[in-house]
Amino acid sequence: MIPKEIIEEIRYRCDIEDVIGSYVSLKRAGSNRNGLCPFHSEKTPSFTVFPATKSFYCFGCGAGGDVITFIQKMENLDYVGALEYLATRAGISIPNEPSVGGTPTVSRRRIYEMNLEAARFFRGALFDPEIGRDAMQYLVGERALSGATIKRFGLGFAPNDFNMLVNHMRRAGFTEQELIDGFLAKRSQHGSLFSLFRNRVMFPVIDTSGNIVAFGGRNMTDEKPKYLNSSDTPGFKKSRILFGLNYAKEYCAEEMILCEGYMDTIAMHAAGFGNAVATLGTAITPDHARLLARYTKRVIINYDSDEAGQRAADKAMKLLDEVGLPVRVLRLEGAKDADEYIKKFGADAFRALLGQSSTAFDFKMAQILAKYDVGQAEGKIRAARELTGLIATTYSGVERELYIDAVSKRLGISAESIANDVKRARARQAREVAQRESRELQMAARNFGDRVNPDAAKDPAAANAEDTLLGLMLLHAEHRAALANGSVALTVADFFTDFGKRAYTAILAAEQSEGGFDFSAMGEHFTPDEMGRFVKLREERAMLSANGIEVLTSAAATLVERRLAREAKAAGDWRYEIERRRALQAKKNNGSKK
Ligand code: UTP
Ligand code: MN
Repeated sequence: MIPKEIIEEIRYRCDIEDVIGSYVSLKRAGSNRNGLCPFHSEKTPSFTVFPATKSFYCFGCGAGGDVITFIQKMENLDYVGALEYLATRAGISIPNEPSVGGTPTVSRRRIYEMNLEAARFFRGALFDPEIGRDAMQYLVGERALSGATIKRFGLGFAPNDFNMLVNHMRRAGFTEQELIDGFLAKRSQHGSLFSLFRNRVMFPVIDTSGNIVAFGGRNMTDEKPKYLNSSDTPGFKKSRILFGLNYAKEYCAEEMILCEGYMDTIAMHAAGFGNAVATLGTAITPDHARLLARYTKRVIINYDSDEAGQRAADKAMKLLDEVGLPVRVLRLEGAKDADEYIKKFGADAFRALLGQSSTAFDFKMAQILAKYDVGQAEGKIRAARELTGLIATTYSGVERELYIDAVSKRLGISAESIANDVKRARARQAREVAQRESRELQMAARNFGDRVNPDAAKDPAAANAEDTLLGLMLLHAEHRAALANGSVALTVADFFTDFGKRAYTAILAAEQSEGGFDFSAMGEHFTPDEMGRFVKLREERAMLSANGIEVLTSAAATLVERRLAREAKAAGDWRYEIERRRALQAKKNNGSKK
C-alpha cells in the first residue's frame, strides 16, 4: 500500500498533458489536446487529452482514464507499478513498507529481485569449473562466444538438478509462492517444489530500465523444446520486450536491426553490431513496433531465410510502417541466420551485406515480380495491378512518385498509366477503410463484444439507463450529492449489470469519504479498460445539453422499473405472464400476416 498523501503528491506533480506529451505528440484542439492514439494504429487523431478533468480518451479504440491508467497501459504496469513509475519520474520517493494483508500475486519489484538473485546463481553455476564445465564448453566452443560476451549478456547455466535453485532461492528469502509466480519453480504432484529450468544455458532478458524480467533457457542437444522461456509474469509480457534493447538503445538511436533469436542478437553485438534486437520466439506485435519507434528512426529486418521467416518479415514491414518507421530488409545467402552467417563469413562480410539491404518496397517488388512471367502481357498486367496496389498503400507522395518511376522502368509501361492506376487504387482503399471503420463503430454502438460490461446486451434498456446515471454522476457533484443524500431514491440493488453495481457503489463511497470524490482514486479498484469506459460515459454526457436533475430522476426511475419487472418475472407474477402471452400472440399474428 502506498500512503494516500504520496498518491496525491504523485497525481499533483505528474501533469497529464506533460506525461502523455512525452509519448504522443499533442496538438491544441480547443481546450483539449489531440494526437495519434498510442494504443491502436490510426492515421487521423482520435486520441484526446482533457486537461480540465485530468483524463484522456480515444474515440477510436475506447482506451481512456487518468494519468495513472495511461502509464499502466503504456508501460504494461499494474496500478501500484504505475504509481511507482510516476513517482520515480517526478522524483518522489515512496516509503518502503511491507504490504499489510498484501496482494495475492507477487509484485513486479519482487520478481525483479528474484530474477536478479537467480541470474547470480546461474552465472555462478556456469563459471563453476565442475558444474558448469559442459555448458561453458558449449558456449565457448560450439557457439564461439568470448568470455567478455558471456559476461556482458549475463549468461548462466541451470544445473541438471531439481532442487539446487529452489534451495538457493529459499535461503535468499524467497517464498514458494514467489518462485512459482515468477516462473522459476513448479509444485510437483507430491507437493514439493522443483526447478523449471534444468540443464539449460540461461539467457536473462533485460528491459530498458535494466531489470531482469525473464529467462530463456536453451538445451545443448537441440532436443525439443530447444528454448524454454518464462511465461508472462507481472513484470513481463513477451509482446512488449525486445531482447538486447537495453544495450541497443545506448548504441545507436538512428537504426536498429531486428532479428529472431537470442543467439543472433548476441552474435551481432559481439561482432560490433550493437544495434541488434530480437523478439522472443513470437511474431512481432504492434507493441513491439511502438517500442522500436520510441528508440530508433529506421529498422533493418533480418529474419531467418526460411519461408516462415519471410512471412514474418512481411508482417513486420506492415506493423513498422504503421508506426512510421522506414524499413529495409536484409537477406542472407548461404546461412540460415545472422549468427551462422557471421560465424561462416565474418563481420566484414555481414557489414557489406547490411549496406546492400533493400528497401521494403524493393523487397516486395522482387517478391511480386518473381510470381509472374512479366515477359507475357498477362503476367505484366497482373504484376502491374499488384504493384500499383502496393504503391497506393504508401503514405508519402514523394515515395509514391519514386516507386511509380521504378515500376514503370521495370515493366516498360508509361509512368502516367501507372500513376493513374495508383490514384484509383488509393481511392478504392480509402473507401474500404471508411466502410470498415463505420462498421466497427456500429458494432461498438450495439454493445457487441462489450468486454467491460458483458451484461449490458441482456437488458439494453436497463444498461442504457445505467450509463446515463453513471455519466451524470461522473460529470456533476450535485448529482452525486442527490443520490448520496437520498433526494433521488436509488439503491445498488436497482442496478442490473455487475459493472454498474460496482461503479455505483464505488462512486457513492468516494463521494461520502473524507476527501470526497476523486476520479483518479477509482483506478485502484477498476481496470484500465473500465477506467476508459468511465471517461467515455462522462464525455458522452458532456456533449449533450440535457444533463439536469430531471434526466437523473428519469434514469433512476427506469432502473427501478426494470428491477420490478425482473422480480415479477422471477416470481411468476400473473400480470407479467399475461403480458408475455400477449406479446407472443402479437408476434404470431405479425408472422401470419407476412
Ligand atoms: P530458432 O529456432 O531460429 O533458433 O528460433 P535460433 O535463434 O537460431 O537459436 P540457436 O541458434 O539454434 O540457438 C528463434 C528464436 O525463437 C525462440 C527463441 O527466442 C529463439 O532465439 N524459440 C525457438 C523459442 O522460444 N523456443 C523454441 O523452442 C525455439
Ligand atoms: Mn541460430
